[in-house]
Amino acid sequence: MPDNLSGPSRVVAVANQKGGVGKTTTVINLATSLAVEGYRVLAVDVDPQGNLTSGLGLRGRRGDAGTIYEALLTEVAPDGCLLATQVENLSLIPADRNLTGAEIELVSVPVREHRLRRLIDPLRARFDCIFIDCPPSLGLLTLNALVAADAVLIPLHCEYFALEGLADLVATMRRVRSSLNPHLDIEGVLLTMYDERTNLGQLVARDVREFFKEKVFNTVIPRNVRLGEAPSHGIPAVLYDAKSRGAAAYVALAKEMLTRHAA
Ligand SMILES: Nc1ncnc2c1ncn2[C@@H]1O[C@H](COP(=O)(O)OP(=O)(O)O)[C@@H](O)[C@H]1O
Ligand SMILES: [Mg+2]
Repeated sequence: MPDNLSGPSRVVAVANQKGGVGKTTTVINLATSLAVEGYRVLAVDVDPQGNLTSGLGLRGRRGDAGTIYEALLTEVAPDGCLLATQVENLSLIPADRNLTGAEIELVSVPVREHRLRRLIDPLRARFDCIFIDCPPSLGLLTLNALVAADAVLIPLHCEYFALEGLADLVATMRRVRSSLNPHLDIEGVLLTMYDERTNLGQLVARDVREFFKEKVFNTVIPRNVRLGEAPSHGIPAVLYDAKSRGAAAYVALAKEMLTRHAA
């Protein structure tokens, strides 16, 4: 792989307010693919469902100072909530159910949109790439992710309503850019759960490319049963079955991301 995340670290929020579009799967497998290549990677679970945490086999685990909940709502050292994972070079800030209350509790916290940025900025020096796994909403947690990030990666499930609701995400990003984070970029739009056997998948892919143009990754993630199975074993699919089409697609995505940054 090209060596081009070795400059300043890149913070990527993986966001789409729809659930089940492949956000968490993308964070797990993209982060792991880069870590396996030797990049220092941090994955941050900002979803109260904690799927990123359990998908990495760390459900119920807390850092010395707790989880992302404590990190956002109390005064802890930025590295107090870091956990090592089974993947060399990949660290995690875990989440659990406590985070459900954070959306409401954050409302009364000073500079409530900047809490995650305040946590992540001091960690940039220690990682080449930091991925934030957002919850399926455009609430304060996702807003915190957009303020902390350099760019947003948007997974889109190749189905009929794929583009519906995206206007809201794009509008939120525009609002964030105009005030809280002027440099927020689009990392790319990722077509997920693509089924080439259906016309619908092809039609949706064409529409999405027409709308987002070169922002759409060339790499498309196929619907693949291994990607669905791996989380129940707490192992990233790219390690669980490295030969599967799903795993290969995520490895290709990591390469494409690196190549884009080299250009
Ligand atoms: N390409 C894929 N093929 C098959 N199943 C997938 C694929 N991507 C994700 N899944 C499964 O679909 C469900 C939703 O994916 P997930 O990544 O959790 O979405 P989100 O984080 O957007 O809610 C999970 O059970 C996951 O394992
Ligand atoms: Mg998720």
